[in-house]
Amino acid sequence: MKNIINVLGLLVLLTVSTSVAQAALPLTYEGRGLYVSYCLLCHGPDGKGDGPLAKAMKISPADLTTTVRSRSETILIKIITGKGRQTITGRDRHNLLSEAMPEWGDLFSEPEIKGLISYMRFLGRSKHDLMGDPEIGLGLYQKYCKVCHGEEGDGEGIMTELMGISPMDHTNPNETNSLDNEELVKSILDGKGRFMPAWRGILNQSEVEALVSYIRLLSH
Ligand code: HEC
Ligand code: HEC
Repeated sequence: MKNIINVLGLLVLLTVSTSVAQAALPLTYEGRGLYVSYCLLCHGPDGKGDGPLAKAMKISPADLTTTVRSRSETILIKIITGKGRQTITGRDRHNLLSEAMPEWGDLFSEPEIKGLISYMRFLGRSKHDLMGDPEIGLGLYQKYCKVCHGEEGDGEGIMTELMGISPMDHTNPNETNSLDNEELVKSILDGKGRFMPAWRGILNQSEVEALVSYIRLLSH
């Protein structure tokens, strides 16, 4: 009996720790992963509606960088799941979404749908390309940056509290959007101010580029 209780205890611990790990993934970052797997083929790498399948379709996939901006959360959820009336005023011929857009039903969990919406909004807002692989950036950020910039990139890391400094808030799109990719690369390689370390010699160019695109996906 005791063994069973121990095993149960362990299972509970495991479930708790995996869900914590998942919850820690930034919304926009998670949305990008899903977008690449499920949406890119039609809507294209930048959301402009020019994916590899677009040419074969009678109704062209929407340019998400212009349409999604004016859509509410509620209508976007309906569009993705296919549940409920999907009015899309503003697209040329029709005010109801056509069947050319697949209905995903219950495939995505609620947080996943939020992530997809967050990434679609990011596509419309971001002024800069993702220059490196954000999946590599995620690991590097956890390893080298989160002590100061915080787990979520909001600038509330352990070291920040100790030193009383305020690093850049990577979750604020106005702050990150104001710098182009080259400026971010330079700050990371050469450091900034008194406390932002220079990473030249520790991180190579492609690792820094991976970090830059991960930082862009922290914004929401
Ligand atoms: C098979 C191709 C295809 C795939 C895959 C696809 N879409 Fe679409 N999507 C379309 C087409 C075509 C339209 C335009 C439909 C219309 O105008 O009636 C559209 C429209 C939309 C719209 C409405 C745009 C507006 O006017 O506001 C949203 C939002 C959208 N798609 C999101 C997604 C998301 C998120 C995914 C991935 C989970 C996805 N789509 C995957 C083809 C696709
Ligand atoms: C010791 C704490 C510390 C660590 C570790 C740290 N940073 Fe910073 N970072 C800061 C501070 C403080 C600032 C604000 C600097 C300023 O504007 O004076 C900053 C600013 C930045 C900026 C904005 C630069 C600009 O031009 O305004 C970027 C980008 C950045 N950090 C990325 C990173 C990355 C990527 C890592 C990990 C490889 C990292 N930081 C690790 C403290 C840190």
